[in-house]
Amino acid sequence: MTSGEKTGWVLDALSVGDVSAAHHYHSLLDRDRLSVLGSLDPEILARATDLIKTSRETEFRKSEARSLEIAWGAVRTPVYLVDERLIEENMRVLRYVKDRTGCRILHALKAYASFATFGVMTPYLDGVCASGLYEARLGREEFGKEVHTFGAAYKKDEIRGILKYSDFIIFNSFHQAAMYADRARGMGRSTGIRVNPGHSEIATAMYNPCAPCSRLGVLHDTFAREFPAHVRKIDGLHFHAMCEQNSDVLERILRSFEELYGPYLNGLAWVNFGGGHHITRPDYDIEKLIALIDGFQSTYGAQVYLEPGEASVYDCGVLISTVIDVVKNDIDIAILDTSAEAHMPDVLLMPYRPDVIGSAGPGIKEYTFRLAGPSCLAGDVIGDYSFDEPLERGDRLVFTDMALYSIVKNTTFNGIGLPDIAVIRKNGDLDVVKRFGYKDYRNRQS
Ligand SMILES: Cc1ncc(COP(=O)(O)O)c(C=O)c1O
Repeated sequence: MTSGEKTGWVLDALSVGDVSAAHHYHSLLDRDRLSVLGSLDPEILARATDLIKTSRETEFRKSEARSLEIAWGAVRTPVYLVDERLIEENMRVLRYVKDRTGCRILHALKAYASFATFGVMTPYLDGVCASGLYEARLGREEFGKEVHTFGAAYKKDEIRGILKYSDFIIFNSFHQAAMYADRARGMGRSTGIRVNPGHSEIATAMYNPCAPCSRLGVLHDTFAREFPAHVRKIDGLHFHAMCEQNSDVLERILRSFEELYGPYLNGLAWVNFGGGHHITRPDYDIEKLIALIDGFQSTYGAQVYLEPGEASVYDCGVLISTVIDVVKNDIDIAILDTSAEAHMPDVLLMPYRPDVIGSAGPGIKEYTFRLAGPSCLAGDVIGDYSFDEPLERGDRLVFTDMALYSIVKNTTFNGIGLPDIAVIRKNGDLDVVKRFGYKDYRNRQS
């Protein structure tokens, strides 16, 4: 098939709701995808979005069997197992949003920075967002596209490196902008200010950047007072106010943001809507997101950026662990070779309960076990789970959705070894890309 014939075929197949069209859509050249979208009317476009989501879910449904097969094979545990095919599926959904809107999407390195899989991410995204010098450098050296850096406060001895590795730098105060913006612009960097959009819906204060007394983002009163004096130093605005949320929350945040900052947007080059958009989650309303971005870009003429982290690798990795021992103290307790404290710290911090393949909540299946880590921390407990069969020493357990905010946050507390990192490549090969040892623990102590 010529590329013209293929484009025509995808157009027809999308129009009649053929699910295989989504897969072929992703393999078209940039200009052909845009020409397909440009030829579809709004009703069919909405149907195309459903097909794109269905296509992703079809691939994800196959992944559980793949993870279980590897878990019960020869793989050494504990191991984070990341699946490239799944990451690519998520990337395709993100690029579809870009195709529909012309927005630009960055991957937030803070959520996931395992560069062994960047090969399936870089073709789809515009770059990364970084939280400081090291992430900016990793982004530049391993991702290789745009690097946008936001830090709550930049140290004088780091700014040189940050400006070297970043294309965009976002300041958290006008004082920091006054210190560094001229230098940044002199190096051809784009500059921005992070603002507090005045609305957020995150219940846990710890994760709410707009909670009372938050240090993150300039408040509107300060902005109104100081922006006029700095207007020539600033190219764009940034806000981040979401966590694992849907586009209806973004709609309400935007309403507040536009009310507070709309009058200042004229002439600004870009606005960054931050992260926390759970775009690749099956129930996420992509059409609403598209409408919001379209509306914003056409009203203000500013380029919209999104910088999700979780959405990039949502559900793309598992943590495989082995039961080392089983003890009893009123309840049955399985001691694993993986630790909540050291290997999945958000389980204790957020807190949340990860899924274990084949398990249910306590008391639902016949045998209930408390799953706990090997450390000295009494609270190193992942949770209570029930199983069809009693757990035995040597059994393997597969914790799901472990690519995000786990590898980047783990520690060697108690001198517990870090899990290996393994990748299921697109061709199905299993590649153990990193194995840690004693030196990784020792080198962090002195
Ligand atoms: C400034 C900023 N951008 C992006 C993100 C990524 O958010 P998420 O991984 O929830 O999409 C975060 C997360 O804390 C953030 O603070």
